[in-house]
Amino acid sequence: MDKNIITLGIETSCDETAAAIVLNGRTILSNVISTQIPLHRKFGGVVPEIASRRHIVNIMPVIDQAICDAQLGLADIDQIAVTHGPGLVGALLVGVAAAKTLAFALDRPLIAVNHLQGHIFANFLSHPDLEPPFMALIVSGGHTALIDMKSYNDFELLGQTRDDAAGEAFDKIARVMGLPYPGGPQIDKLAREGNPNAIDFPKPKVDDYDFSFSGLKSAVLNYLNSAQMRGETINNADVAASFQRTVVDSLTDKTIDAAKRSGLRSIVLAGGVAANSALESKLRAECERRGFKFYYPSKILCTDNAAMIACRGYYQSLVNDFADHDLNAYPALTIQA
Ligand code: KG4
Ligand code: ZN
Repeated sequence: MDKNIITLGIETSCDETAAAIVLNGRTILSNVISTQIPLHRKFGGVVPEIASRRHIVNIMPVIDQAICDAQLGLADIDQIAVTHGPGLVGALLVGVAAAKTLAFALDRPLIAVNHLQGHIFANFLSHPDLEPPFMALIVSGGHTALIDMKSYNDFELLGQTRDDAAGEAFDKIARVMGLPYPGGPQIDKLAREGNPNAIDFPKPKVDDYDFSFSGLKSAVLNYLNSAQMRGETINNADVAASFQRTVVDSLTDKTIDAAKRSGLRSIVLAGGVAANSALESKLRAECERRGFKFYYPSKILCTDNAAMIACRGYYQSLVNDFADHDLNAYPALTIQA
């Protein structure tokens, strides 16, 4: 490619309606995120039907804003990248329909982006020097996975959660503690006031590079219920800190071990739970101690956004990985698809 390429990214897989403009894959010209969190909070989690309807209302104003913030016009867009999975089917379809319509109307190429790959690519936006190969840990509300990323287009799945995703466990425990949705950031905040060694929750025991968080989640819920039944006062900060330490230890140990065995020198953290301060500092400390380079995205790029989708889309365009206009949404798409 011999000119400056402008990619419009569109993301609607869950509860953020997002659009972004990225120049040559790595430079963010605009990054608009319209969050639906306040709308879903009263239900304690994302209500899929409400999410889809709100995406319909938001999508065109969000795209307009992204183009306006980048000080560009529609005609300047060279290609359109959209998340087509995994995620909520009704939510994904809104972004996919908008992207297909724009691609057809503007006569521009369409690129179908895997949301999980997008999370990893958020790191390329935050770190201009970063290049594959590296070991990536994706921790989000729906996924927990270890990926050996050999090149920009080669993702080897080494392990994933056998039950709950890490973010799901954070959100569930926060909900039982009466904290508002999404619970991850709330637990993170509360844990800062607690003792991480106060309660010895069982560490997940899973072979290989798979993870498991449902046993730990049940242990924390049982602890809270039993204490409540006995009329004991619960120190929520200690519970949050002890739970968080157990999750962070499990994620850190497996990631370091996988990187060591694969002979990789860099470790990349990605996904919404990458915003967790304890996970970031523990993984950073372990990487420094063992001589790995550590990368993680800026906070705004950890959680769902469209800049990461545009970035991933740009690298797909370099290998002519374009989609047809009959593109569909794939709610259960895996990282390697
Ligand atoms: O990647 P993401 O925005 O959406 C999915 O693709 O799932 O991740 C959202 C998840 C939620 O479970 C949220 O509670 C969690 O990321 N999260 C955090 C923190 N910030 C967001 N979990 C722990 N600590 C945080 N600071
Ligand atoms: Zn996500």
